[in-house]
Amino acid sequence: MTAKLDSSTPAAAPKAIHLSEYEPPAWRIELADLAFDLDLENTEVSSRLHLTAASGKDGETLRLDGEGLELLSIAVDGEVLPTARYRQDDNALTISGLPARCVLETKVRIHPDKNTQLEGLYASRGLLITQCEAEGFRRITYFLDRPDVMAKWRITLRADAERFPVLLANGNPLKSGSLEGGRHYAVWENPHPTPAYLFAIVAGQLATVDKEVVTGEGRKVRLAIWAAPSDIPRCDYALGALERALRWDEERFGRYYDLDVYNLVAAQDFTMGAMENKGLNVFNARYVLADADTATDADYLAIEAVIGHEYFHNWSGNRVTLRDWFQLSLKEGFTVFRDQEFTSDLHSRAVKRIEDVRMLRARQFAEDAGALAHPVRPSSYREINNFYTATVYEKGSEVVRMLHTLLGEATFRRGCDRYFADNDGKAATVEDFIEALSSESKRGLEQFARWYAQAGTPEVSVEDKWDAEKGEYELTISQRIPPTPGQPEKLPVTIPLRIALYGEDGRPIDGALDGDAARLDTGGEAPGQHLYELSSAGHRLRIEGLSSRPLPAFNQGFGAPIKLRYGYTPAELGRLARIEQDSFNRWEALQRLATGILLHQFDDAEAARGALVDAVGDLLDDDTADTAFVAECLELPGFDTLADMADIIDVDALLTDREQLLNELAASHRARLEHRYHTLAATAAGGLTGQAMAARSLRNACLQWISRIDEQGSLAQKQFRSAENMTDRLGALRCLVRYNAPAKAEALEAFRTRYADNDLVTDKWLTLVASRPHDQVVEDVSLLLDSVWWKPTNPNRVRSILGAFARANPTAFHRIDGAGYQLLAEQLPGLDTINSQVAARLLGSFESWRRLAGKRRDLAGEALSSLRGRLTSRECTDLLDRLVTDEQPG
Ligand code: TRP
Ligand code: ZN
Repeated sequence: MTAKLDSSTPAAAPKAIHLSEYEPPAWRIELADLAFDLDLENTEVSSRLHLTAASGKDGETLRLDGEGLELLSIAVDGEVLPTARYRQDDNALTISGLPARCVLETKVRIHPDKNTQLEGLYASRGLLITQCEAEGFRRITYFLDRPDVMAKWRITLRADAERFPVLLANGNPLKSGSLEGGRHYAVWENPHPTPAYLFAIVAGQLATVDKEVVTGEGRKVRLAIWAAPSDIPRCDYALGALERALRWDEERFGRYYDLDVYNLVAAQDFTMGAMENKGLNVFNARYVLADADTATDADYLAIEAVIGHEYFHNWSGNRVTLRDWFQLSLKEGFTVFRDQEFTSDLHSRAVKRIEDVRMLRARQFAEDAGALAHPVRPSSYREINNFYTATVYEKGSEVVRMLHTLLGEATFRRGCDRYFADNDGKAATVEDFIEALSSESKRGLEQFARWYAQAGTPEVSVEDKWDAEKGEYELTISQRIPPTPGQPEKLPVTIPLRIALYGEDGRPIDGALDGDAARLDTGGEAPGQHLYELSSAGHRLRIEGLSSRPLPAFNQGFGAPIKLRYGYTPAELGRLARIEQDSFNRWEALQRLATGILLHQFDDAEAARGALVDAVGDLLDDDTADTAFVAECLELPGFDTLADMADIIDVDALLTDREQLLNELAASHRARLEHRYHTLAATAAGGLTGQAMAARSLRNACLQWISRIDEQGSLAQKQFRSAENMTDRLGALRCLVRYNAPAKAEALEAFRTRYADNDLVTDKWLTLVASRPHDQVVEDVSLLLDSVWWKPTNPNRVRSILGAFARANPTAFHRIDGAGYQLLAEQLPGLDTINSQVAARLLGSFESWRRLAGKRRDLAGEALSSLRGRLTSRECTDLLDRLVTDEQPG
């Protein structure tokens, strides 16, 4: 069907391309004038490309990307092109002897209904949808499919008026009307220079909710959410979120929207979260549709965040785009930073930071320590789809956050303004971004830029010395970045490190440590908090005149994405959990206490358990503490985070010790947990306010702890029966399923039937079943794969079953007989032929296999070996090769 699936494609890993080999394009496309005759089975794409040779000379050769296209006709400047003048192969159309300026006309035929890869133009429930990032446009028509070729676009859509009443494309609507034979057309125009990866069209039976707003520059914009007619009642929240995003970007970044319409479509079949196509975002329906009956509070927040993310791309990605795909984090890391700030400004900054760091540690730290580790800006790749990773996105955002920390809000903002102004309408590099920030802040960032080039999570170790006689306290700080594939040795990076010292009175000491690390004053430091810029492998800081040994606190707000090592005693962590003024670090103190216990880092294990029990007790007693924050504190480090901290992953020990510790804590605090659970009931009933969401979050956290020791699961059962929103219903169901309560089967059945016709909610119960921490789930998942619920062409469904199993169920996935690894491995070759991006992500679940203890490492290795020669896509062959090869090029 396509070059990608062609059986002649060798199953060996594809060839690498290198950042150092970048060449500017030999041709520009001034205008891309496209016409689509749309149809599910056969779509014809007529293209008129207005081309200019970069050299200005006649006779240059033009090589256009194209995959799986059936060429119907080709002409240059109105003349049919003789076959001798062009050559077609699996992935290109090469034309020789062209004039320096010309119009190339091609017509190709494609087959959307056969496109299960969901890349290019595909059919989904009667709709026609495109997904072009990163290199999907070449599956639609012949083009220079690279981000530094930016064209203006004119897009004509023609289709049957009944089957495709709505015809959407990038840019502004220009005209529309009817055609013969029950057909109609619409013409769209995108005046902003835009690369092909941001191209989009959507056609079909869609309904809309919309609103007209006026931007701060006075432009009238129609914001519109499009969905299947039956989903329209669940679109209001998305529309509100879109408006909030637009306002926030005006206020915080001074960025204004630049078209007359902003269209956003909900798609049920979508590989990733969402896509920022110019003026026509396409979203995974799970990040659009919400109402109280079907969406959890977490869903609402995720919807707002993803809508913000795609909206913010309009400047960080679209107006300023990428020179090449190596620069991916230039748009993704920056835009994640922007969406994180959006959520922080609108909701609780402390809670958002905790959740983001939890995710970073569980996913990105593991990636950075595993076989797939790569720099934020990789220097080579074989398949770009494999670099939409936690490192490029989340670590990329952390790197931008560090720049924000080093420069301070005001200077950072001026730097961003300059970046947008200098690069508007252009294809930029990481260097352009750094340059803008550097020139506005008048400081060098060369060393800082190593964050983009070196993989691995830096480890910062702190030792201290207290001289009671002199009242002198000294810190020795050193950094080390572990080796990663292709990068055995690292250079020190610039690290912004916040430090506070606490005195006996529990208050931060005013005076600052001084020494050979620069102390910065950005205006963003809290009282008693000092910001240092670490730049070399080792630093020494000292303070004199103290009356007692201070308690140090480091890296407040998690200002740097590092592993900070300091030998806190359990008592010190307990104290920090109470007195630290930075709420992230208070949470962190509890995490450290729990981690230290589980990884046997404390000399006095009993004292450590006692300290944790006391700290949790205090927290539960403190009803003045922020409710949502307390809920975060009750979530102790998960398996992934613990595994990342251990050199060798002893799955059984980590899982059993963790369960035991949590059960013990639950038993110690049962009365307190029940008290908080009941007293918060009224507040929790209050709809979508921050207060009510916080109350639900703490109540459901309490319920989880209680359910561990409540064998009958009666409280969870009661909540399940009386729940009036999805947060409480799903929270209760999770407890019943996870702790195998007697009412489990009945509750699951009730939930299943209630939401039988809602795929997104069906995904939720499937996820619960697939992530239940029990050996037996390997068999449960096998049954699901044989059931009516298994839909391998729907990425959300594949993730809800196999993704949950492989990524959120260490108990079953790492089953000691290897059955979990085998189950996943058996599914991958089939999934690879359906949707290779989804398959590759599942394959990535093996990223830490080399660090598994004992037999599991062998069994995981065998599962991977069994896949050799059975995976065919570029995505999976590249990934498998990286997983099993010891060393690879950096
Ligand atoms: N640019 C999108 C985002 O982060 C990501 C994305 C959506 C994507 N769909 C994709 C990346 C398909 C690769 C392939 O907002
Ligand atoms: Zn993005």
